[in-house]
Amino acid sequence: MGPKRRMPLLRWSFWRLAAASRNINTTGQIGDGREAAVVDYVLTNARAGDIDDVVATIDKFAYEKSILINVGDEKGELLDAAVRRADPSLVLELGTYCGYSALRIARSAPKAKVYSVELAEANAANARQIWAHAGVADRVTCVVGTIGDGGRTLDSLANDHGFASGTLDFVFLDHDKDAYLDDLESIVDRGWLHPGSVVVADNVGMPGAPKYREFMRQQQGTGWNTVEHKTHVEYQTLVSDLVLESDYLG
Ligand SMILES: C[S@@+](CC[C@H](N)C(=O)[O-])C[C@H]1O[C@@H](n2cnc3c(N)ncnc32)[C@H](O)[C@@H]1O
Repeated sequence: MGPKRRMPLLRWSFWRLAAASRNINTTGQIGDGREAAVVDYVLTNARAGDIDDVVATIDKFAYEKSILINVGDEKGELLDAAVRRADPSLVLELGTYCGYSALRIARSAPKAKVYSVELAEANAANARQIWAHAGVADRVTCVVGTIGDGGRTLDSLANDHGFASGTLDFVFLDHDKDAYLDDLESIVDRGWLHPGSVVVADNVGMPGAPKYREFMRQQQGTGWNTVEHKTHVEYQTLVSDLVLESDYLG
């Protein structure tokens, strides 16, 4: 393991990210062009049509060029395992960024349709280029909006993309940490989940989603069954994080 992996504080791109973290829930980007740079890097260096190579190339960029706020390789393995366990046909992700986690989900569920909701149009455009290069654009779709936008995005998922009662098998929460609980409740209210649907939430430890964690603790064995995975923030091993994997009991 190299020093950059153990010690993100040695990396200039880590400090730029830390300084810009308040931008994430407004512009969706760090502000120094690293998101456009990773698209160029993937299109130049990754084999077209090869999901494994595209995922590995994004990880290489994050380790060797600029840190990205993808779920990353370590937590990505937890996500992969949860997707394989759920064996979903329909997946909803909140928070697309550059499209990395949606690629991992699509790879672990080769027949699934994956919908990813993202507030920033620029991120949607970047992710679509990466998905097209990986060869999954026919079944991975970015919907620009937010679950909290007064029903516009929820209605679009229902009316344009076929979300209906009991059809949603897997949800990945990786957007505004303060919106995890309200957005999940909006999804539950639509009736799209079924007993056995799986919800994975990233960054519950860092930067943290305490309301969401407390809700899942209170619901244990009644509305939800949750496993807390101890892990690390993406692309380093210094800072701890928690990923929650929750089964909906109905
Ligand atoms: C941590 S990144 C997502 C990383 C991505 N899931 C991955 O692992 O490759 C968070 C993303 O959520 C987006 N975002 C922030 N608030 C949002 C909201 N309320 N709804 C949808 N997207 C949001 C940001 O623009 C950013 O692209």
